Formats: sequence, C-alpha cells, structure tokens
Amino acid sequence: MTPSLPEGVERHDFDGTTSIATRGHPEYGERTDGEWRRWDPHRSKLGAMLALGMDTGLEADLKTLYLGAAAGTTVSHVADFGGPTYAVEFAPRPVRELLDAADHRPNLFPLLKDARRPESYAHVVEPVDVIVQDVATRGQARVAALNRQFLDGDGRLLAAVKARSEDVTADPEDVFDEVVAELSTSYEVLASEELDPYHEDHLGVVARPLE
Ligand SMILES: C[S@@+](CC[C@H](N)C(=O)[O-])C[C@H]1O[C@@H](n2cnc3c(N)ncnc32)[C@H](O)[C@@H]1O
Repeated sequence: MTPSLPEGVERHDFDGTTSIATRGHPEYGERTDGEWRRWDPHRSKLGAMLALGMDTGLEADLKTLYLGAAAGTTVSHVADFGGPTYAVEFAPRPVRELLDAADHRPNLFPLLKDARRPESYAHVVEPVDVIVQDVATRGQARVAALNRQFLDGDGRLLAAVKARSEDVTADPEDVFDEVVAELSTSYEVLASEELDPYHEDHLGVVARPLE
C-alpha cells in the first residue's frame, strides 16, 4: 500500500498534469493553481521520494533540519507544511534566493553554515523530528552522522545520496552499498530506493538514529 502524503501535501491537477503540491508562495517558476504550487520531483529529491511512494514518516508541523538547502527549491515546500525549518547551506550565492523564500515563510530559518561543522549552528538549532539531507558532497554518510545529535530518538533522516559526489568513476551501486554501510554505524536504515526516473544515480534513504 502506498503511504499517504503528509497533511499539507496533496496530489493536485495542474492543467491536466497531476503532481504533488503544497500551498505557499512560488519560488522557482513552478506551476501554480490558486494557492497550490507544484512540487516538481525532477527538481527535488525529497519530492521524488514522495512521488515514488517512499514511506518518509513526514507529517505536518514537524521540526526540520535541512542540510544542503541551496536556493530553497525543496526546503520552501518543506516549510509550507512543516514547523520550524532550519536550512543549512554553505555557498553564499544560493543563500540570497533562500533568504527570499524565507521572506514568505516565518518558520524558515536560513543558516549560512557548513554542515560538516554542526558545532557552528548547535546554539541555534533545537532538537528536530526530521533531518533532510541533500548535500551532494563527498562524505555524505559522515555529514549525516555529525548531525545526528540534533535528531530526536524516534526522528527520521531523509537523505538523498548522490553516487557521483562520492566517486565519479565507481559503479553507483557500489557507492550506495558503501554509503549505506557507513550510515548504518549511526542509523538504522528503514528503506532505500533509487530515485530514477527523477534523479539518475541517486539513492533515497529513510533512516532512524540508533540508540
Ligand atoms: C544538490 S544541491 C541541493 C538542492 C536542494 N536540496 C534543493 O532540492 O532545493 C546541494 C547543495 O548542498 C550544498 N552543500 C554541499 N556541501 C555542503 C556543506 N558541507 N554544508 C552546507 N551545504 C553544503 C551545496 O552548496 C549545494 O547548494
């Protein structure tokens, strides 16, 4: 049975195309219909995980730490239905657009920080129900392990693992095995699924912290 979408995320018709959608201010030229804005799974790995029917455990109003927020494409949707949403991004250029997305969302808090240095934002971020990670950098399992400290015991890590960020030459399946093995030292992996056809050579992972 396909898991239900979190409250605040719905399948909506946009001119004959049905897509997941949230209600909020448009941010990246996505289609809109009244208050609804299309959550484009081709532009968002978390959107792809939902569109593929992965059981993310997401619900409305959860506290979220989002790692690798870029210009805010995905995190803007998360903030549309979530609670306080801390958005970490270390590149100054996309953060300007992220700030624009936050202007329309009082629950979205951009942090110009390095996700490999959680001590630099530990004084700002409260314990969260969800970590969403999409950092597309080498050492993705390590980033998840470093940030586990913020996650409640029954919380969820929703990670998009990009194979080519770890090793451009290796077989993606081998990279996924290695990343999942490393992740498994600090998390219990509940589900994993490749994000084709939306994102090539990406693995969506749902995990919960080990005791
Ligand atoms: C694939 S993009 C993220 C796209 C975004 N999640 C979305 O769906 O809208 C990856 C982002 O992670 C950021 N990133 C990579 N390493 C990081 C780190 N150590 N700390 C913070 N951000 C990082 C990059 O600058 C880039 O903007």
